Amino acid sequence: MTRITPVEGDITAQEVDAVVNAANSSLLGGGGVDGAIHRRGGPEILAECRALRASKYGRGLPVGQAVATTAGRLPARWVVHTVGPVHLPEEYEARAALLASCHRESLRVAAALGARTVAFPAISTGVYRWPLADAAQIAVRAVREAVAEHPELVEVRFVLFGPEAHGVFRGALDETG
Ligand code: APR
Repeated sequence: MTRITPVEGDITAQEVDAVVNAANSSLLGGGGVDGAIHRRGGPEILAECRALRASKYGRGLPVGQAVATTAGRLPARWVVHTVGPVHLPEEYEARAALLASCHRESLRVAAALGARTVAFPAISTGVYRWPLADAAQIAVRAVREAVAEHPELVEVRFVLFGPEAHGVFRGALDETG
């Protein structure tokens, strides 16, 4: 049974096999989680992202999809980059499905690499403005469904950058426990 745990902290400090990055389609870095991962992970990550853009993802990584690179200097083996949807109420259903896909695809990519422990940030809840409580519901539901397909996963961690987000994700996990 895969443990799904909410922890308060910095995603770049997580000692796990795979760290999920809240990236954008360019894969060339940004702020928030993306900026922190590239800053602490070092240039190797960006070099592999550039190689992906020069090969399989010439037009960028589509929203809802995931791709792995080295984790560089992070205390992890891989970074799984995924692109969350920007919150847009008039397109709620389609975009909620994409947010769920970010979690499902990230776990599929991580499990395929042989990862046993995976850490997620609260995807789309920063620059992409997704309301925290709703994102937590979508993320928790998607991860619970996905771990059933990947029983080899030992732990999936939600890493929240503050007490409010930690409380919201803990609540979402308790509700569906
Ligand atoms: N560790 C854990 N969580 C973090 C960290 C960190 N070091 N830094 C920020 N967060 C939290 C934010 O508080 C927010 O709740 O991660 C959540 C996601 O925020 P963003 O990083 O802004 O990601 P997102 O909303 O998905 O927007 C992605 O932002 O940084 C750019 O290049 C990125 O264009 C992309 C967009």
